[in-house]
Amino acid sequence: NKVVMSGIQPTGVPHLGNYFGFVENWLRLQKTEPADTQLFLCVVDWHAITTGPLPAVELRDNVRKMVAGLVAAGVDCKRTVLFRQSAVPEHAELTWLLGCLETTARLQRMPQYKDKSLQYKKGDVPVGLLTYPILQAADVLIYRGTHVPVGDDQTQHMHIVTDLADHFNKQYKCEFFPKPLKMASALARVKSLRDPTKKMSKSDPDARSRIELSDTVQTVREKCKKALTDTESVVTFEMDRRPAVGNLVLLYAAVAGLSPDQVVKEMSSVTTGEFKLRLAECISQRFEPIRQRYEELLASPDTINAILEDGAAKARPIAKSNMDEIKRIAGFS
Ligand code: TYM
Repeated sequence: NKVVMSGIQPTGVPHLGNYFGFVENWLRLQKTEPADTQLFLCVVDWHAITTGPLPAVELRDNVRKMVAGLVAAGVDCKRTVLFRQSAVPEHAELTWLLGCLETTARLQRMPQYKDKSLQYKKGDVPVGLLTYPILQAADVLIYRGTHVPVGDDQTQHMHIVTDLADHFNKQYKCEFFPKPLKMASALARVKSLRDPTKKMSKSDPDARSRIELSDTVQTVREKCKKALTDTESVVTFEMDRRPAVGNLVLLYAAVAGLSPDQVVKEMSSVTTGEFKLRLAECISQRFEPIRQRYEELLASPDTINAILEDGAAKARPIAKSNMDEIKRIAGFS
């Protein structure tokens, strides 16, 4: 049986990187997967504290915003089991076991770890930052996930997930975990609007680098106007020579459902300045209805709580039953 599993950090409302790298793909799966495919979508709140604890109010708020954003974008809680990670204790329980099958050397080589640990002095790096990928592996494996839709930035983490599944099976001479496959979306890498060498990310201190689903028409327009271009004023698609303009073309293509060549053709008579305004319009046209639903949902905490409780009630028995089996296999019961 196919089990689709993915996670998203509660970093507040989703941005267009999350949307085109992941959410859009999820919405497609909701429509196209047969009824016996299980769909688990987890808001990974334990992962949110791996670079240090957040104030409780902020963490709770960020989870609420993420759930409201996902549901507003089209995640259907009747089809998708949408829940928060900490509500299912087996994620953390399996993390311990998997952590004992992994080496610190391998984890220290992870690009995201290398990157994020730079902000600390040697010896001050939180242990959770190092073991982050193990928790991610547990998220997938606790449901015996077979397919994991994620953006390109998760490729390295996914290697750890598949290797751990394999490692467990070999260690305990069983076939308990299937090998989870990474599923990429059409636009697996959305770049920062301010720097085409960086991905669009919540952790970028410059808010103009990303567009969030909660941005109003006005904000979208301002951010698009400020988007980086170059000294040439025609719109072309040349990723090597003109990466900044190329990224905007890719983004426009994703939003409008066109190919980059079609975008260039459509924009053949406008300057890059005008193109940025058209991009803003196109984004608002598609995302303004989502923003309005988002605001409505956010104003209704009871709805969000009910969604999360319902999701956890569906996920937990499955996680518990798999954890029982894992413990039996490994000699803990
Ligand atoms: P996170 O929360 O950073 O991002 C959630 C999803 O959005 C994708 N994404 C992007 N895709 C394209 N371009 C971008 N600029 C961009 N930014 C984000 C991510 O690839 C991801 O699919 N470690 C994961 C969360 C996680 C997880 C899991 C994923 C925890 N457990 C289990 C899958 C399975 C993360 O930090 O994603």
